[in-house]
Amino acid sequence: MKVGIIGTGFVGLSFAAALASNGYSVLAIDSNKKIVSKIGQGISPFYEPQLSSLLRKALKKSLKVSTDIEKVVNECDLIFITVGTPLADDGSINLNSVKEVAEKIGQTLAASKNRPIIAIKSTVVPNTNYTIKKILEKRSNKKSGKGFGLVSNPEFLREGKAIEDTFNPHIVVIGGEDNKTINGLKKFYEGFYREKIPYIITNPQTAEMIKYANNSFLATKISFINQIANICQSVPGTNVDNIAKAIGIDPRISPLFLKAGPGYGGSCLPKDLQALISFSSKVGQNPTLLKAVQKINSDQVTNLVSFMKKILCSLKNKRITILGLSFKEDSDDVRESVSIKLIKMLLNKGAKIIAHDPMAIKNTKAVFGNKISYSKSLSEALENSDCAVIMTPWKQYGKLNNVDFQVMKNTLIIDTRRMLTKKKLNVKYHAVGLGPV
Ligand code: UGA
Repeated sequence: MKVGIIGTGFVGLSFAAALASNGYSVLAIDSNKKIVSKIGQGISPFYEPQLSSLLRKALKKSLKVSTDIEKVVNECDLIFITVGTPLADDGSINLNSVKEVAEKIGQTLAASKNRPIIAIKSTVVPNTNYTIKKILEKRSNKKSGKGFGLVSNPEFLREGKAIEDTFNPHIVVIGGEDNKTINGLKKFYEGFYREKIPYIITNPQTAEMIKYANNSFLATKISFINQIANICQSVPGTNVDNIAKAIGIDPRISPLFLKAGPGYGGSCLPKDLQALISFSSKVGQNPTLLKAVQKINSDQVTNLVSFMKKILCSLKNKRITILGLSFKEDSDDVRESVSIKLIKMLLNKGAKIIAHDPMAIKNTKAVFGNKISYSKSLSEALENSDCAVIMTPWKQYGKLNNVDFQVMKNTLIIDTRRMLTKKKLNVKYHAVGLGPV
């Protein structure tokens, strides 16, 4: 079986490398020539643990990378669409890339003898499958279910754990209209995943909605625990982690995604929540809970700035050390990172920023250039600082101690992820979700 993957972001490239390193013949396509050339040399265009070594293994086996979408359409039995779906300026989803890919697939299919199964893995709002079906049918002059198969097949992998999740997904969702196509894709997955995985077989619009419901629920859990954390900050002695641990034991709640922090970031949760809110209003619904989740999340960073202002009196010319720039650990991705939002707000208040991160300095420089300073050395980042804020839970921040903080001018530490232990420190220590300073 020959597999085509269109779009080499986190999902597409991880999937391509996983399949090809396991012997599948894979053709991965991207419209960006620079990215294609990098991947062809075995270099991942972004940092993702295990991906580079898997990619090199895949290239030695049966992974081919190119910009030639026609080849995919003419030769592949199974085609996965994994292109990006960013937000449009009005907060709704921008489906242009998915539609453009569908146009090209349709045009090529018109003159092709191939009858591939096309699976939409990109995150798309309900009814997109229908729109794509219409484009494919119009361009190819063939009927879905006959000249090609079409299914919605959302994915649930996490950045930083993309390879682990690609090999061991917790679920496979397939939304389709004809059984032959659904069963074809299911059989493919059953061959690839030897472990038993729950399969949810449904219609396309439900599959599309599952993805949004999933990410929105994760965002809801985070905003819930952040709200509890904020309440704890006004109750001496309370500890949000102990509360999360206790409620997480209740099987109806589960312990995951209950880590209070500076708010969620990244290229998925903020975007998907916003897209669902926008979609809801288009279908005549007012999603008040989702809006509250979003508001709690954006307030989280504002609360941090207010707190710093209160303790340091004014932020003007204060030297602030930001520890962690990526939206999560084990990633160099700064898209919608709360650290980036915090830095913007602090710069507006006249603060001077020195930023530290083991992986994400390059991407942060693309945002701020020389408006802020950067350091890969923790001691340099802390030197003469008025306040250090732990934003991303990189392991090394949990090892910081009194000796490290001695170089600071003013030892105010704000620990949004509770990586340090208050009792062991001789500093003014404030942690999100612990009682007042
Ligand atoms: C998220 C989902 O977790 C994946 O299942 C989904 O496939 C993916 O989006 C997607 O739609 O492609 P990801 O964006 O990689 O994955 O990151 P998460 O692990 O969900 O973390 C998102 C943010 O929430 C991070 O800023 C993280 O620090 C924060 N977070 C997470 C918390 O503040 N507390 C938690 O308990 C968990």
